[in-house]
Amino acid sequence: MKDWWKKSVVYQVYPRSFYDSNNDGMGDIKGITLKLDYLKELGIDVIWLSPVFDSPQDDNGYDISDYKRIYHEFGSNEDMYELIEEAHKRDIKILMDLVVNHTSDEHKWFVESKKSKDNPYRDYYIWKDPKDGKEPNNYGSYFSGSAWDYDENTKQYYLHLFSKKQPDLNWENEKVRDEVWDLMKFWMDKGVDGWRLDVISSISKFQDFKDYEVTNPNQKYYIGDYHTNGPRLHEFLKEMNTKVLSKYDCMTVGEAPGSTPQEAKLFTDPDRNELNMIFTFEHMDLDTKQGSINGKWELKDLNLLELKKVFSKWQVQLGDKGWNSLYFANHDQPRIVSRWGNDTVYRKECAKMFATLLHMQKGTPYVYQGEEIGMVNCKFDIKDYNDLEILNAYKHLVKEEKTISEEDFLKAVHIKGRDNARTPMHWDDSKYAGFSKEEPWLKVNSRYKEINVKNDLNSEDSIFKYYQKLIKLRKENDIIVYGDYKLILEEDENIYAYLRTYNDETLLVICNFNEEENTFKLDTNLEYSESKVLISNYNDSPTEFDEIKLRPFESIVYKLKK
Ligand code: NOJ
Repeated sequence: MKDWWKKSVVYQVYPRSFYDSNNDGMGDIKGITLKLDYLKELGIDVIWLSPVFDSPQDDNGYDISDYKRIYHEFGSNEDMYELIEEAHKRDIKILMDLVVNHTSDEHKWFVESKKSKDNPYRDYYIWKDPKDGKEPNNYGSYFSGSAWDYDENTKQYYLHLFSKKQPDLNWENEKVRDEVWDLMKFWMDKGVDGWRLDVISSISKFQDFKDYEVTNPNQKYYIGDYHTNGPRLHEFLKEMNTKVLSKYDCMTVGEAPGSTPQEAKLFTDPDRNELNMIFTFEHMDLDTKQGSINGKWELKDLNLLELKKVFSKWQVQLGDKGWNSLYFANHDQPRIVSRWGNDTVYRKECAKMFATLLHMQKGTPYVYQGEEIGMVNCKFDIKDYNDLEILNAYKHLVKEEKTISEEDFLKAVHIKGRDNARTPMHWDDSKYAGFSKEEPWLKVNSRYKEINVKNDLNSEDSIFKYYQKLIKLRKENDIIVYGDYKLILEEDENIYAYLRTYNDETLLVICNFNEEENTFKLDTNLEYSESKVLISNYNDSPTEFDEIKLRPFESIVYKLKK
């Protein structure tokens, strides 16, 4: 079927934390194959695998040293072919993670590139002379400090928007693009069904490499508009589409930080032949104070009105020319119940409310491993973290620049750190949560005895069962996939409510966003002759909806028919 991805639900697997089949403390590909029946039971259609390619693992695989070989701790190429085959037997498709804004500095292209200025691979990366004895410009790295690193040997700097072990590829070079098309075909010919494209909005660079305006005398490096949406971005994606994607029945989702709905349309308007959908960051940035030297670690409370505005803008503006990806969680984001909800007393209600809010919108929903059982953030000491984003920021901001106190930084990490999402999956209540028999590469979250798959499979009102139901409803109700979206109760600070309409049907989605009781009062006229509760996170939600006293985090979806 064309556009099958519109009807699909995607499940993201972070391989090192999913399931360890050989008990070495590290998740692996065979572990994923062993859990396919679990995923089938959940009802998902597509797995997005975070990178499994050969890598020194500086950024847990987002630093690739060989695109055609599987990282040995995850298994072999044969294991990957088996996973694809077994997934396909169950009607599950596989997306791989295409990380081609940069490679690892241990990739043979970079090893060659570094050797001399006239090496045939020199131009695979972005090399520049020093400016006034310093970096070529004031671009900052997403992982703190400058985005440039100096090479003593050839007396030039190379660009790395991420860690210095992740040099940026030079997409201006046609040979680089041909290499990318080649590796994509390699995997697609093995049966891979598509790609999640890592920071794809950064592949085209502004060739003047201008400095950012200095807006703070204490700040040396900046991250902003020059980091994304460069002048040839869409030309490159069109080339990718013509040379590779158009030849396969596949799905693509681009990670596109810095994009507005207008830009999103450029990526996803079907007439433009680029990608199917992108990940926006706008809703995820709402709890960060913008413009701070401390970046994402400068916390701000979430304002529900802003969240409504952002979601609604994307829902309405992408309209028919484009498609949304719906997500609260992934390997870079903390657990949503801890971030914006209540992860203790109302953990279950809260997890189900967030799921309802997301899955009833128009677009393709993404479930990140553990989200379907309501996994929560962890509170580690700094020594227990693995993520280089956390560790680099700690070094630069807390220890060197002293722009944030240790206490405030740790508080922010406990809310926003990426390792919150990366702790091993909780399968049961045995030691190491059934993830492995050996000590895992990252500590297990201390709440695994209470929150685990085994408990959820055995309980009728579990979060897992709720996700299962939501996913099933999407398959049975075209309105969830195709219906138009309209926000209601726009100014209500506690309740997020919206309508979906399609043919003679309407969905009324009501979510109480906090732990107070809040009264919902319908502010619009709805025509219908039949109505029923489609799904709710309390088992006795009222059937009448003109006025409802909503309980903590209560969410209800009504289906109306004219
Ligand atoms: C985005 C990925 O999701 C993140 O995990 C990674 O660190 C950066 N891109 C760099 O590849």
